[in-house]
Amino acid sequence: MTVPTLVDSHCHLDMEQFDADRDAVLARAQANGVIRIVNPGVDLVHCRQAIALADQHPQVYAAVGIHPNSSADFSEQTLIQLRKMSDHPKVVAIGEIGLDYHWDTVSRQQQAQAFRAQLELAAELGLPVIIHNREASTDLARILEEWTASARTRNSPLAEKPFWGVLHAFSGDAALAQAARGWNFALGLGGPVTFRNARALHELAPQLDLDRLMLETDAPWLTPHPMRGKRNEPAYVALVAERLAELLAMPVEEIGARTTAVACSIFAPLSGDESPEPVAAAASGPS
Ligand code: NI
Repeated sequence: MTVPTLVDSHCHLDMEQFDADRDAVLARAQANGVIRIVNPGVDLVHCRQAIALADQHPQVYAAVGIHPNSSADFSEQTLIQLRKMSDHPKVVAIGEIGLDYHWDTVSRQQQAQAFRAQLELAAELGLPVIIHNREASTDLARILEEWTASARTRNSPLAEKPFWGVLHAFSGDAALAQAARGWNFALGLGGPVTFRNARALHELAPQLDLDRLMLETDAPWLTPHPMRGKRNEPAYVALVAERLAELLAMPVEEIGARTTAVACSIFAPLSGDESPEPVAAAASGPS
């Protein structure tokens, strides 16, 4: 059986859940056809860790951004740090950023302020955005609508790009999927598409444009069926690809090839000549 070519477009490899066996996790990812991994940061410390991993591993790329749940003390200083880090050649996006009304640990006003400031940074730098949305679709859509409209009129370098961002961990709202098209966004599908009770997502998936979809794990969270309950890891993006292949009645190799093409299109450095071929993780030594 051929192993499909896959990209894990959203994986938190920098989290401590991987400290004990990160090299083994990367080796399993490679054995399952995962040729590229994008590691978004959630706060300044994790952004630095994501970049350090990208420096160590040719197949790992980073995104820098402050997650809404970590945006309580977002300031002008934070923005300066993000701007500096975005200079790194393996930083491919601003993210993950967005709104989270589920936990509500940070006020909605503070979340919106940090979100808007980081969207502006992305527009200025011409970098795509990785969007986190939890129970906040209405406010999120309004902010993205305003941002895309204003960035277009101000001739942001993003205007030249095929995609402006991705709604990560997309979970089945047809109206939002439609809006995302208008903003030139891709959708990221992960573990939830494999969940047995995700009927809305199963019905929606075949109606989505495959050439606007990316695969992801969001590891260590959102573990796909049948591994639910265990730690998630990038190798399991293959389970997402297999489930999507079933739902779309298509060979898994085609799902892999087309979603990989979208990932390379949105995160341009993934396909650049300068990016080295993935290598096997070191067989020994501390990670
Ligand atoms: Ni995430």
